[in-house]
Amino acid sequence: MVKEVIVYPDKRLKERSKEVEEFDSNLHQLLDDMYDTMIDKKGVGLAAIQIAVPKRVLIINIPIEEEDGAQPKENTLEVINPEFLEMRGESRYEEGCLSVPGFYEEVKRYKYVKLKYYDRYGKEHIIEDDGFLAIALQHEYDHLEGKLFIEKLPITKRKRFEKEWKKKIKK
Ligand code: CO
Repeated sequence: MVKEVIVYPDKRLKERSKEVEEFDSNLHQLLDDMYDTMIDKKGVGLAAIQIAVPKRVLIINIPIEEEDGAQPKENTLEVINPEFLEMRGESRYEEGCLSVPGFYEEVKRYKYVKLKYYDRYGKEHIIEDDGFLAIALQHEYDHLEGKLFIEKLPITKRKRFEKEWKKKIKK
């Protein structure tokens, strides 16, 4: 089911999400709702807190270019209780966020990450990447820590954002 995405400056986005303990049907329902919501809002990733559920759950689904940007459900990476094992290098990428709609800005992050996580059945996995997925994982992980990408901007860009945002929400 498509859920409402909460938007900056909603205070819930600053909350640190809690570990998942039960890999049960409630978790599966949450993951399914997150997929429906991400697709509805045309996103490539979503953290549970963005639909107001403070659990350490995130999903990523990178559109398939050769298939008109399709995002089939079976391609969804479902990441529960993630933990970074390694991060190194540097990359810059223009990011956006469904909780900060319409705003895009370049963010500096690690180029390579290695991550341990659990799937919806509680099975442990390790994933590593040094491309777009690495960036998406860091962006979504930040949501679990109560952080948004705009907080990573240098002060001048951050100020420009706040100005633009105030104008936008007045409308
Ligand atoms: Co986001």
